[in-house]
Amino acid sequence: MSTSTKSNYDRSAAALRMRRISKSFGPVQALSDVSFTVQAGTVHALVGENGAGKSTLVKILAGVYKPDSGSIEIAGSVHTFDNPNQALAAGVSMIYQDLDLAEHLTAAENVFLGNELPGKLPFTVDYKAMVQKTAELAESFNFKIAPTAVVAELATGDCQVVEIVKALARKASIIVMDEPTSSLSESEVDRLFEVVRNLRRKGIAVVYISHRLEEIVDLADDVTVLRDGRVVHCESVTKLDIPHIVRYMVGRELTEFFPSRSVKLGNVRVRVDNMSSANRISNISFEIRAGEIVGVAGLVGAGRTEVARAIFGIDKKTSGAILLDNQELSIDSPSDAISCGIALLTEDRKRTGLCLGLPCAWNVTLPSLEMLGMKRVINPARENKIADALARRLSIKWQGPQAPGDSLSGGNQQKLLVARWLLAEAKFMIFDEPTRGIDVGAKKEVYLLLNNLAGQGKAILFISSELPELFGITDRILVMRRGRLVANLKTTETTQEEVMHLAAVEQNR
Ligand SMILES: Nc1ncnc2c1ncn2[C@@H]1O[C@H](COP(=O)(O)OP(=O)(O)OP(=O)(O)O)[C@@H](O)[C@H]1O
Ligand SMILES: [Mg+2]
Repeated sequence: MSTSTKSNYDRSAAALRMRRISKSFGPVQALSDVSFTVQAGTVHALVGENGAGKSTLVKILAGVYKPDSGSIEIAGSVHTFDNPNQALAAGVSMIYQDLDLAEHLTAAENVFLGNELPGKLPFTVDYKAMVQKTAELAESFNFKIAPTAVVAELATGDCQVVEIVKALARKASIIVMDEPTSSLSESEVDRLFEVVRNLRRKGIAVVYISHRLEEIVDLADDVTVLRDGRVVHCESVTKLDIPHIVRYMVGRELTEFFPSRSVKLGNVRVRVDNMSSANRISNISFEIRAGEIVGVAGLVGAGRTEVARAIFGIDKKTSGAILLDNQELSIDSPSDAISCGIALLTEDRKRTGLCLGLPCAWNVTLPSLEMLGMKRVINPARENKIADALARRLSIKWQGPQAPGDSLSGGNQQKLLVARWLLAEAKFMIFDEPTRGIDVGAKKEVYLLLNNLAGQGKAILFISSELPELFGITDRILVMRRGRLVANLKTTETTQEEVMHLAAVEQNR
């Protein structure tokens, strides 16, 4: 790591000082006495386990929540924010994980949304000027975006850049990114890093939240570690390495990250034979034995999630068969799949996973009500008890089984989804990016969980974009490219390089 990639901006000026911030939600003390200082022209990473208080802190900065006590100082003057607009006006822009752009408008229209440049005639806007300003602004930061492109047609990475340009058009001096890379492909991540480095060069203060500690070490100047709502450490990144950061985060050493696999594989449990779907994938065949964890690798867009969707009856299959314990299944909908004993943990927990407005307990028992004998009449006490036991097993941080799903931190929502399928006792479980957005400790728990589930004889399909975890936990790795299976490898007989190569490169046959 060279220091030249780090900030060389004058670090004497603090762009932001948050002092002694505390915040509770009912009985939950989300933040206690947190002080957080960010210098102009630096990237300051905020790390911590799920529920540590990272999002709460930046939401206070962005005027979404009011702190119970403490103060916010921006470029030397004290501010109190009653709403996000006041924070925006003071120069704080937040780039949310689920971007909130107007999809049907162009990049330039989004950049100036609510802030339009007036035209010559009354009640008109000067679209041409907005396009030009957007282009100029993007150019001055070395960003590549097309101002006239409609946002709906842009890739996630481009949308992020549009959000950032929008922040710059509002003269942001502090830009906050909460897990910005969790839905980006590897090349988009590289580009975002370039964008962030350009922001830093121009003197913007960037607050950067991520669970990917490699990114922090690569990108950030300083790091503040939160644990249970308190600052436990703050230091220049050059003085830290990943094991140190992890130790501050979890308060102990995390050794043996991946559980040892000693499961005896049984008979073939799942057979997918020549499956094609209307959604991208064709001629997919593979087997999973009882107790086996089979990984699926591939680039974004290779069709990994689509395989899961076809098996689970979300996408229509145009050909092929799925056999479970030698029985051919007929699956035309997710409810068919569930009653056949298949579970799917979706990658997008917000859109296709949880019902965030509903109590956690309901989210957990939803697909299992029939099995629990509660299809007609639900016994709330029993439901709570079941959910509570699972929460304990996965160490979910919540205010109780009746707390709404959206009161949980992002990572704890992911665990809630795991709890649901743990309860459903499926024979064949498909995990689509289950560790996205969860902290290192919880990741380890998920791996243990996969290992235990396999140990109980379940067949597991594990889709992941992170090769180290595929290599850490699977028995076999399927590699996909452009909707097809291009390799089926024994994990111990291949390498990350080989898998990456197979996923990316067209082969001459
Ligand atoms: N709106 C809310 N209502 C009730 N509790 C909340 C609310 N928002 C956050 N909390 C609680 O505050 C604590 C801190 O949550 P926060 O979202 O800040 O964590 P985080 O560090 O961002 O975690 P993650 O890495 O999982 O996103 C958690 O215990 C969470 O359940
Ligand atoms: Mg968060």
